[in-house]
Amino acid sequence: MTFVSALKGENQSGLPPIWLMRQAGRSLPAFRKIREEHPFLKCVFTPEIATEITLLPEKELGVDALVLFSDILVIYEKFFGKVTFPGGKPFAECTFEEESGIDVLNPIFETIRMVKKRSSLPVIGFAGGPFTVLSYLKDKPQNPHKLLEKIAIATREYIEKQIEAGVSAIQIFDSWAAIDGIENMREFCFPYVKEILRGLPVPTIFFCKQSSLYVKEIAKEIAPNGISVDSKRPLQEIRKEIGNEMVLQGNLNPEILLQNQETIEQAVSAILRDRKNDPAFIFNLSHGVLPETPVENVKFLISLVKKRAV
Ligand code: CP3
Repeated sequence: MTFVSALKGENQSGLPPIWLMRQAGRSLPAFRKIREEHPFLKCVFTPEIATEITLLPEKELGVDALVLFSDILVIYEKFFGKVTFPGGKPFAECTFEEESGIDVLNPIFETIRMVKKRSSLPVIGFAGGPFTVLSYLKDKPQNPHKLLEKIAIATREYIEKQIEAGVSAIQIFDSWAAIDGIENMREFCFPYVKEILRGLPVPTIFFCKQSSLYVKEIAKEIAPNGISVDSKRPLQEIRKEIGNEMVLQGNLNPEILLQNQETIEQAVSAILRDRKNDPAFIFNLSHGVLPETPVENVKFLISLVKKRAV
């Protein structure tokens, strides 16, 4: 259980745990096969199918943690919103006039329970940051704060239910929060994500693009247990700035996995050397696995991390 011990800053095994954002996605042939038969949202809302997909990376890749197969946009279900994926890019339409109980998301909690029965690996639950969730809305609101607050309250409830169903950690994906800089984060991200994570009984990880530039602010304003960092800065530099308490997750650029094995090995070794014996480090990418990534390269990456290729 190196994933859980690393999240407590107590991994003494000398090997970092590894999981990958979008590990259960299109780089896996078995996922693509399931998707040929069912639309994406049907996969998410059918616990048997979502369980099978969540479990694929354990069998096929040998990761140390599973991430629930779902999407950040499912929270729109609670507001009778409609999410579609025209040309791969999702769009949400939602009035926020009506709201249902959180039980509309019961199939997702059921998936967590089913995965827990079938695997002994820790399961990571997740939700989108309200700003990122709202950024997929087709018609942008004039004053987003009212809607951000509504989404934050629903998200807190959604996460509490995931924890009740058995997840070992929660990651917040606020992918776009820092794209327009720190001021944007202060206004649209920090207050809401702080409210969502306050006092949760499991460890939490915060992810956004360009997070490495803002680790200190994120630590101060949101106080997650860990930050998932991008590859813009070396981990050693980030570690120095943030101190030893904060769990760091990252930070291999997913584009490296499109290169040859020699390039992959060099980049992975550099990260492993940089974070050697760091008890609070989790190996991951700086963003999700790219759909076109050859699955052999993902397997190669994981075998390198498991072998301590320093
Ligand atoms: O990481 C995992 O394997 C768990 C499942 C997961 C998905 N999406 C599955 C998915 C997670 C954690 C997400 C998070 C998510 N979804 C984010 C935050 C992380 C990030 O990438 O920045 C965002 C912004 C979304 C919204 C979203 N969902 C987009 C932009 C897209 C379309 C682009 C794309 O990659 O196709 C999706 C669809 C989606 N979510 C897919 C998967 C596997 C592909 C759907 C398909 O099979 O066609």
